[in-house]
Amino acid sequence: MNDYKLTAAKAALGLIGPNQSVGLGAGSTIAHLVNLIAGECEYAASLTFTSSSFKTTQLLSGRGLRITPPALLRQLDVYFDGCDQFDAELNALKSGGGIHTTEKILASMADEFVLLGDESKFAKQLNATYPLVIEILPQALQIVLAKLAALFPLATITQRISTQKDGALISDNGNMLVDVYFNEFPAPEELDIQVKMIPGVVEHSLFYHLATKAIIAGENGVKTILP
Ligand code: 5RP
Repeated sequence: MNDYKLTAAKAALGLIGPNQSVGLGAGSTIAHLVNLIAGECEYAASLTFTSSSFKTTQLLSGRGLRITPPALLRQLDVYFDGCDQFDAELNALKSGGGIHTTEKILASMADEFVLLGDESKFAKQLNATYPLVIEILPQALQIVLAKLAALFPLATITQRISTQKDGALISDNGNMLVDVYFNEFPAPEELDIQVKMIPGVVEHSLFYHLATKAIIAGENGVKTILP
């Protein structure tokens, strides 16, 4: 079977130049990219890496690659990450893992933010397949839940609890995680601001107008999509 995520990661490898600072997100496509960098990139030792994900950081460290913590950085040449779904404007939905806050911080530092994946990730417009994940300060949980219910009366809003099978229960920052399942996905521009403006919301998992490029692979080869 073709591994299109590996094909996309191979195309991404070609975007990395010597001496660059490279941010990496999470997931299986990014794991392929780390292995390719470690195994095939002649100038891997000249690169500096940072990651939003503990797992990816462990992988980088295990492959002997040089890591700098995000807190010590203000600029990256390029940030690569996967996503659950992205649209024609490269708005992306992310984060079963609840690490979207650091992912967004790294994306905002980068001169180029490149989304990677197989072609199943692309939808002309974001749809209601995936929830919006919201990281919330613990002391604001109830008021944020109430405000979300008022804003989105038709949505199903669930706080992650211990019986849940998939995804992180709390964020890497020790905050609460809530999933908002829409009937119909709202206009991304309004959604981005409406949710971000609720006091107590740390960050949500819609990456509105942040990506500069997407590389996806499928049965018709590799495609680069620009916003
Ligand atoms: C993390 C993500 C991942 O990048 C997303 O789940 C994609 O993973 P994969 O490359 O395994 O399909 O959004 O927040």
